[in-house]
Amino acid sequence: MRAPLIAANWKMHMTREPAGRLAGDIVRGLAGLDGVQVVLCPPATALDVVARVLAGTPILLGAQTMHWETQGAYTGELSPPMLVDAGCRAVILGHSERRRYFGETDDGVGKKVRAALAHRLVPIACVGERLEEREAGSTDAVVVRQVRAAVAGSDAEALSSLVVAYEPVWAIGTGRHATGREADRVAALIRRTLAESAGPVAGRVRILYGGSVTPGNIGEFLEQPEIDGALVGGASLDAQAFIAIARAACRAGSP
Ligand code: 13P
Repeated sequence: MRAPLIAANWKMHMTREPAGRLAGDIVRGLAGLDGVQVVLCPPATALDVVARVLAGTPILLGAQTMHWETQGAYTGELSPPMLVDAGCRAVILGHSERRRYFGETDDGVGKKVRAALAHRLVPIACVGERLEEREAGSTDAVVVRQVRAAVAGSDAEALSSLVVAYEPVWAIGTGRHATGREADRVAALIRRTLAESAGPVAGRVRILYGGSVTPGNIGEFLEQPEIDGALVGGASLDAQAFIAIARAACRAGSP
């Protein structure tokens, strides 16, 4: 069985003080909740504040991006050991905003996944088609290409900790979301693609949906057999909305 996972991507929002408050509200709202893994990914400047709030709770700290090298002349970048040192247990990799605005490539995402696994960080690798790719009928080809590149060269057994987030780019921050059925179809394709390189381990990889997830639509995704949770942007900045999403996943995950 795959435990449901709900991850919050705060993107470039929240200075340290409101970040600590939001994390505190989420911790209180989810106290005692069992059966769902929750990850908060604040901006890098708030990692230490949020780490302190999360200490002693089952909620994990994650970062939003990372370099693949351990150290070196890469101005502005953060390395895997730096994230581990800051208390991170997970890291979002290859988010479409990183691909679009910062030139991240399929190949680079593969290097980052390998580096994350080597440092025991849970990689949350993002894939998803742009609107024009969807309209051209190339959703499947794009997603397969991105997934193959993300896991290229990784040890099959290590990939059991991988998380893949299917985030159709046209659904991010737009209020338009994929239907549960369509997201499930793509999630099944992702799992079949993972099985090419990871074999049966692909059955243990968690696949999330991301893109305009709210308390109102989370149920539609959680009821899909191939979808194990969500990567939440906008709604994760509102404690009550995020708590409602995580609670829904807990209910969906219980036998
Ligand atoms: P929204 O939930 O704001 O659409 O963002 C999704 C996302 O990009 C999460 O990584």
